[in-house]
Amino acid sequence: MKKPVLKVALAASLTFSLFHAEAALAKPSEVVQAQPYKVFDQRIVNKVNADNMYNHIEHLSQVPRIAGTEAEKQAVEFIKSELESYGYKPEVQPFTFLGYTPPSAMELSVSELGGEWELQPFTYTVSGDVSGELVSAGLGTKEELADIEAKDKNALEGKIALIKRGEIAFSEKVLNAAHAGAVGVIIYNNEEGALNGTLGEANDSYVPAVALTKAEGEKLAAYIDNKQVTARLKVEGAVTEEKTSYNVSAVKEPTNRKKDTGDVIVVGAHHDSVEGAPGANDDASGTAMTLELARVLKNVPTDTKIRFITFGAEELGLVGSTHYVNNLSEEEINRIIANFNLDMVGSRDAGDLVMMTVDGEPNLVTELAQASSERLNGAPLPYEQGGRSDHVPFAEAGIPAALFIHSPTEEWYHTPEDTIDKISKEKLQDTAEIVGAAIYERARFDNMGPKPKKIKKEKNQAFYHNKEIR
Ligand code: BES
Ligand code: ZN
Repeated sequence: MKKPVLKVALAASLTFSLFHAEAALAKPSEVVQAQPYKVFDQRIVNKVNADNMYNHIEHLSQVPRIAGTEAEKQAVEFIKSELESYGYKPEVQPFTFLGYTPPSAMELSVSELGGEWELQPFTYTVSGDVSGELVSAGLGTKEELADIEAKDKNALEGKIALIKRGEIAFSEKVLNAAHAGAVGVIIYNNEEGALNGTLGEANDSYVPAVALTKAEGEKLAAYIDNKQVTARLKVEGAVTEEKTSYNVSAVKEPTNRKKDTGDVIVVGAHHDSVEGAPGANDDASGTAMTLELARVLKNVPTDTKIRFITFGAEELGLVGSTHYVNNLSEEEINRIIANFNLDMVGSRDAGDLVMMTVDGEPNLVTELAQASSERLNGAPLPYEQGGRSDHVPFAEAGIPAALFIHSPTEEWYHTPEDTIDKISKEKLQDTAEIVGAAIYERARFDNMGPKPKKIKKEKNQAFYHNKEIR
């Protein structure tokens, strides 16, 4: 992606006389505008070191860093001590969340009907060993259950409800059935393939809930039609418990207090990974880049505060970044002018660097990075609409925010193959230069642009969920 020719030209113009070498070639207006940028950018570019990032990713991606586990704690300690070694006094912000362990085993037996069922758990189902008559409960809507109960008040009391997918969220189906007295719920798909769903969040009112394929569900529905059939449903090992995860942050204060603009730039990444994935790219890469930018920017003169943060529990629903933003005062939120979110920024096998904003619109972050990439590589970065990461809570608070990611993403995303050998030093270097130069352009002395407009955004659940909820 990088154009080496430009770099050579840039280096040459710097070793030469800064203003005269190019003046002969360019129109005067271009010279005045273009030159100072290159000098400032070069302060960042010269310091960014891909080997540092690579080594940090290697260290972090030995094992998965699931939020709330010892491995996450180790990562947090590592990030903290790195920041300390650059001269920062990092802060660790703990927060709790309801951690969910999925079932270790499930079993369904339907009287007289032998055979195995392709059971899938719903995320957040509770454990249990329940038996009862298996009854069809349609789509499990309130209206449908009321109709069933109008004919027989105890139609679902102590029974296992067989419900078809569609119309309302899985969690609503389970709660409606439980409310009507059902002791277990089986939801079957309304399309081909396995139903891999979530109840969205933990709830004490749930009963054991599992999914079946369309074919299996229809077979069961036909079998119990006009017949009394007893079933036993066992869900084992599912646990919801309080766990602790952490955000780690370090602040680079403005160099001269008298010249403090009062503005804050937040640059960050998530340090946690998903179960089974060492998360070299997702998101040890962003974590390592946050560390490297913290190191690079430590001693450059700025009039703007820069806060470096690695978030915990992103993979569990942006929990750390949401906690962080929710704990800011109105005044603190107003001071944050930009959030640079680095998530999946080093994959050899992914596409080019893009930016994603929650509303798909440009903002201060995209503008700064478009300008820096234009200056460094001769091409502005594209941006598109996208949520799914820690910039979402910032954007929802009205803060200009963007995700930096290589797109299309690599095949290894969220797999055990997301390992250090797939990391590209070139991609790390290029991205860190663009982001670092963008931040510095705004944070350095004497560069106060107009305050960006803040727009309060409605919360949009769609940005959060990857698993299907209905
Ligand atoms: N790094 C991903 C986000 C991502 C992946 C964005 C691919 C764009 C393309 C992030 O860590 C993640 O996995 N997010 C979850 C959603 C989150 C709210 C749990 C996801 O997208 O599944
Ligand atoms: Zn990620």
